[in-house]
Amino acid sequence: MSVEKSLFGYIDGGKPVDIYTVTNKNGAYVKLMTLGAGIQSLCVPDRNGVLADVVLGFDEPEYYTNPDYGYQGLVVGRWANRIRDGRFTFGGKVHYTPRNQGTWTLHGGGRFSFTLWEVDEVGDDYVTFSRFSPDGEDGFPGNFNMKVKYTFTDDCVLRIEYTVLCDENTVANPTNHAYFNLSGDSSATVENHTLMINADYFTETDGDQLPTGEICEVKGTMMDFTTPHKIGDRIDEPFDAIIEGIGYDNNYCLRGYNGEMRKAAELSEEKSGRRLEVYTDLPGLQLYCGGWLSKDYTVGKGDSLVTYRRGAALETQFYPDTVNCKNFPSRYVKANEEFKTVTEFRFSAE
Ligand code: BGC
Repeated sequence: MSVEKSLFGYIDGGKPVDIYTVTNKNGAYVKLMTLGAGIQSLCVPDRNGVLADVVLGFDEPEYYTNPDYGYQGLVVGRWANRIRDGRFTFGGKVHYTPRNQGTWTLHGGGRFSFTLWEVDEVGDDYVTFSRFSPDGEDGFPGNFNMKVKYTFTDDCVLRIEYTVLCDENTVANPTNHAYFNLSGDSSATVENHTLMINADYFTETDGDQLPTGEICEVKGTMMDFTTPHKIGDRIDEPFDAIIEGIGYDNNYCLRGYNGEMRKAAELSEEKSGRRLEVYTDLPGLQLYCGGWLSKDYTVGKGDSLVTYRRGAALETQFYPDTVNCKNFPSRYVKANEEFKTVTEFRFSAE
């Protein structure tokens, strides 16, 4: 295993963005950037041992900072996904968070994703990033420090450990927003990937994709991925929790939530034979297939254009808007006590 540092480019007219490449004994590697503690590329073998990049993204750092480009590969904090009306009550106080989309907060307002993180530690097979967020930043309580440790192994497991420490009781919902396309061709649709999600229920959403608080069964609906099948099979069916033309952008309630690591999902692509298994200790998983990405973008990596439905984001998380939906499973951050959550992306080929 080895880790190498290089310069990726610049944002905000001159701030350098660094990349740390963690390479395993077979030459597979992940490139991690200081911008949003993000995954810039992830090259893993197909069934013939041929390496290809399986995450969407860009060759220039500036593109990552445009929220319309979908938070590609970036860490999201302090609270992933939506907060209804940009406000919640916690610790007896009302907290107001940025309404950076419609009338709600998306991805904590975006600050964690679109800024540069510190590098705390580099080992043979890992890099730890951190970001400090002062009390009240974007409306969230407490002086808050978040660390994200990425470890990449010889058998192509990318382990992401999020650790939060805060001087007050607070809320946290970190995730990573990588979009996977296992074919290695980011201009190929993700609709022909096969997906299984270990979930019998999903959180119902309204016309703004905000949770209603209801938990509904997947059985008998297009939401059902309990048995593996192609993402495209039912993606365009009319369904209440889907916005017409967008396709999947929904939170699944993973089976057996008890704070321990368990298998959440499996994504595979026939031609390459690549497979990705997702493990997490969190209760939810957002399946988002890039349906909001514009159909006519002209940027991506190399010649391939990152556009509509080119990748599947499998965002492990607490359910969206848990801060307002008291019936959703929650685990808040206690003052001066480390709060830790782990997600693993395990790659293989068959
Ligand atoms: C959200 C989408 C959003 C995307 C990119 C997902 O987590 O659910 O609605 O478009 O992130 O920001």
